[in-house]
Formats: sequence, structure tokens, C-alpha cells
Amino acid sequence: MRIDILTIFPQMFDGPFNQSILKRAVEKGIADIHIHDIRDFTTNKHRSVDDYPFGGGAGMVMMVEPIALCIEKLKSERDYDAVIYMSPDGELLDQKLANRCSLYKNIIILCGHYKGIDERIREHFITKEISIGNYVLSGGELAAAVLCDSLIRLIPGVLNDETSALSDSFQDNLISPPVYTRPADFRGWKAPEVLLSGNEKLINQWKLEKAIERTKKRRPGMMEGE
Ligand code: ADE
Repeated sequence: MRIDILTIFPQMFDGPFNQSILKRAVEKGIADIHIHDIRDFTTNKHRSVDDYPFGGGAGMVMMVEPIALCIEKLKSERDYDAVIYMSPDGELLDQKLANRCSLYKNIIILCGHYKGIDERIREHFITKEISIGNYVLSGGELAAAVLCDSLIRLIPGVLNDETSALSDSFQDNLISPPVYTRPADFRGWKAPEVLLSGNEKLINQWKLEKAIERTKKRRPGMMEGE
């Protein structure tokens, strides 16, 4: 999957893609991530990327031109399956949406700032708007990193144990059961004996029971697909 991220804060992506699973996916060439500084596409001498809103009001608006030029350049080089804008009023990201988006080959992700982006970008370029939750972040960068993480880990070959993404919480409308590792007894706090029994059938039964119990308690409604 090729991901082109458009941002005015490119350094914000130094961290998330240089650690752990995402780093490995990039190194293996499974995820090909390109960060573009929107400021590089300005044509004004101050390299401004924002301006006052027409009609007044609080905050600045990200200008149409540099974003349009950047998206047009990318689209002239290859086809994209989606041009995504990270926005608190977009479709709420959940596991189902992540599963669907993980099938894309090439995507553009636009990170907004200030009071938002000039509406003409949304009208003419954006094909999908995604929110990572019902709260407002200061910019779309952290949201874009969350989206990328949720997509990339689902691409075959990224996780060592291919089944582990399938057993994630939410994949079967169930929360994952509790997990334990050594020592089996820490200060008298014991791991459940069944997990040490070696009896695969009993272990799987226990895991399913715990997953159902947890889901009912923490996310009533989730089992019905809510
Ligand atoms: N930009 C600001 N807040 C956001 C959110 N909750 N989700 C996605 N993008 C955002």
C-alpha cells in the first residue's frame, strides 16, 4: 500500500512510522509512506498556507491552492483509490472501516489544521472523510497516524503471526479475552490454570467464554454489531 500524507507539520510523522510494526512494514516495502509538506506547494512569497475566512469568524482557513497543487501532482503520477481528509466530522473509524480501507493500493491522506480547509478542496478532491473519535484534535496528523497504523497492521505479511490480526478485539464483534505470561504465580496472583493445562479445546472454550463475558460487560450492544 502506498500512502501519501499531506501536512504542514511533516516532522510529526518522524516517530510513528519509525518504531515497531510500522517500521517493519516500511522496511519490508509493504507500506510505502510519503510525507509531503504542503508549504512546498505555495506560490506566495511568504509561503503562507492559511488565510482569514471570508465573511469573518474565528481562526484561519487552510488555503485551496497549495493543497490542490500537491494533490494534482500526485494524481498525475498514479491513480488513487481514495483521497481521505482527516476531520472530526468524518465517518467514525472502527475496525470495519479499517478492514475496508486496508484493501486500498494507493491513498492520499490530507491533514487539516486551524479552522479547517477551504471547502473547495472537499468538493473537488476529497473522496472520503474520516474521524478517529468525537473530540477535536489540534490537527489531523495524529489522526492520520492512527488511521495508518490501523490499516497497515491488517495488510498480509505485516504481522509475524498472520492470525493475530484476525484475533484482535472487534474483529468478531468481540473484545479479546485477558492474556497472561510468565510467571504463572506473581505474589500469589495466579494465572488461570486452564491456560497452563495444554488442553487446546478447554483453552479455546475458556477464551471464548471470557471474550463474551468481557464484551457483555464493557460493550453491551457490540455483539449485535453496534
Ligand atoms: N482532526 C481534528 N480532530 C480530528 C478527529 N477527531 N479525527 C480526525 N481528524 C481530526
